[in-house]
Formats: sequence, C-alpha cells, structure tokens
Amino acid sequence: MTLQELQQEHAASLAALAAAGDAAALDALRVKYLGRNGLIPAMVKRMKDVPAADRPAFGKALGAWRAAFEAALAGRVAEAQAAEAPHAAFDVTLPGRWRGEGVIHPVSRVIEECAEIFHRLGFSVADGPDIENKFNNFTALNTAPHHPSMDASDTFWFDAETLLRTQTSPVQIRTMMANPPPVRIVNPGRCYRRDTTDATHSANFHQIEGLYVDTKPVSLADLKSTLAYFAREMMGPGIGVRFRPHFFPFTEPSVEVDFTCHVCKGKGCRVCKNSGWIEIAGAGMVDPRVYEHVGYDPDKVYGYAFGMGVERIAMIKYGIPDIRFLYENDIRFLSQLR
Ligand code: DAH
Repeated sequence: MTLQELQQEHAASLAALAAAGDAAALDALRVKYLGRNGLIPAMVKRMKDVPAADRPAFGKALGAWRAAFEAALAGRVAEAQAAEAPHAAFDVTLPGRWRGEGVIHPVSRVIEECAEIFHRLGFSVADGPDIENKFNNFTALNTAPHHPSMDASDTFWFDAETLLRTQTSPVQIRTMMANPPPVRIVNPGRCYRRDTTDATHSANFHQIEGLYVDTKPVSLADLKSTLAYFAREMMGPGIGVRFRPHFFPFTEPSVEVDFTCHVCKGKGCRVCKNSGWIEIAGAGMVDPRVYEHVGYDPDKVYGYAFGMGVERIAMIKYGIPDIRFLYENDIRFLSQLR
C-alpha cells in the first residue's frame, strides 16, 4: 500500500464514522479498523514490507490515522449514547427549572419582627405548650371559678383539667414558677377558642404575650413607653399609643391598648371607624393574686403584662381585610405577598 492509499483509507474511515447511524454501526467500525484483525493493526504489521526510505513518513501517517480515528470514534459514541438515553446527558449550562419562590407567611413575619423588637428592649423569648392545664390557663391567672370563658362552649377541653390554651397568658405562670424575678419575656404562640369563623375570628389564632416582673419598681408608665416604642418600630413613625381602662382578671389596673390608625394617622377613616385609633392589645400591672399563685411575694415584686393578637397586627400592617385569607391558602392571595 502506498502512502496515498493509506491517506485515502484514513479519509474513508472517518467518513464511515460520520455516516454510522447508531451505536451498533459504530462498534462494527471499531472492530473493522481497530480490532485484532482490523485494518490499522494489519497495516502496522505490514510496516516491515514498506521500503526503508518511506517507512518514517508511512509510520507517521499511520499514527495520525489511528489518533484521528480513535478521537472521532469516541465523539460519535458519546453522541449516540446521548441520543439513545437523553437523560444520561447532563448539560450543566441549561438554566434550572423554576419552581416558584415562597415567602414567609405574614403571621410568622409578624412574630419574628415582634420578637426582634422586644429583644432590643431586653426581652427574651419564652415557650409553653398548646395543651395546658386548667390551673395555668385559668386558676393561676385569677379567673373566677365559674367564669364563662371556661365553658365548654368557649374552650376546647380534653377532660376536666386539660384544655387547648385559650390565650398565651399561661406562659406567664410557667415562666414565673420556673424563674425567680426579674423575668422579662415575650411568648408568641397558638391559641384556641370555640369561635365561629368570620372575617375577624378564627378558632385557631396567635398571640404574643409579654411579661416584665422585677424586684425594683415597675410602673404603668414603663408599660406605656415600652408599648409606644413597639408601636413605632412595628408600624412606623408617628404611631402613638393610648390606654383605655378595662378589666382582665390577671392585671390590676387593666387597660386596652390602642395604636394610632396607621391608615389615616389619627384623622379618622373607615379602617378605624373614624376614631383615629385601632385596638391592638390588652395589658396591665400583674395582679397580686397571680404572684401568690406562682410563689412570688406580692409585696416585693412589681410588673406588667400584655397580650396582643398576631393576626390582627398582620392584617393591619399588610392591609389584609379578612383573617381567613391567612389560613385558606388561596394562591391568588398568597402570590400577592411577595
Ligand atoms: N390574655 C388576654 C386575652 O386573651 C390578653 C391579655 C390582656 C394578656 C392583658 C395580658 C394582659 O398579659 O396583661 O384577651
């Protein structure tokens, strides 16, 4: 064979590779050219018959052919495998599949933000169980023995002593029983009441409880300044607080706490029913009876407590008109939260 014939065979082998349709055809070509009795090994054996003067050029051309054929074969085999099993080929340059981006739920967002704001004032986060006993949820909180809130029509009871907590206030009791004063905690958590669901009520909702008890004097003014700081941080500058006298069994005196309406900034609008204020929390100075129940000496401690509805804050802050939007997982609502 002449050098020219060898180069023609080289070109023909590459053309055959290019034309091969599948893995089986490629394998046949591999056997034909590279196999034990293949063309290229046969040529190598016949090198000794080539005139000595032509041998170096012939050997070089043969090596080039082998290298070119092997490279082309590997490329075509990879192509055939990818075509036959598309998933085996992984293209790292393809953009990923977009799965949609989630957001933190408004209730969780408000809880995190509240905890953060109170943290700056030295409050730590306490925790308590959703399933409570009657003592922590009612008795120790100075609730009168036959108070209607204890009725089976208002509260989910498991038995005469065990219930789903109706408020986060029992965490006050747990905290004081486990720690000597001073205590300065907030507790976000779920509460349960036998309420019929409507635009502002849900049988399952969240509260944030706050409690500060110390052995040095703590006053209603301290409570007010703390809540005023919270109001500004949470709802923005220009938001003030006012206290209205109220009654809670576990505080004396007790107040309801209003924030300046964030929509009209106090001028009066539909949202605040023209009052300029929106009710946000219940609060007061911890009642001496509560201290007695937890083993604190009522003559030696001073403290305040407050409790606010998380959903209510979320609805006000994010302009959500109906509490049910927070729980029904309607994608038309959720996708607006981004
Ligand atoms: N537990 C009360 C409720 O569910 C809210 C509340 C009022 C909590 C006054 C307090 C407080 O800690 O001092 O309506």
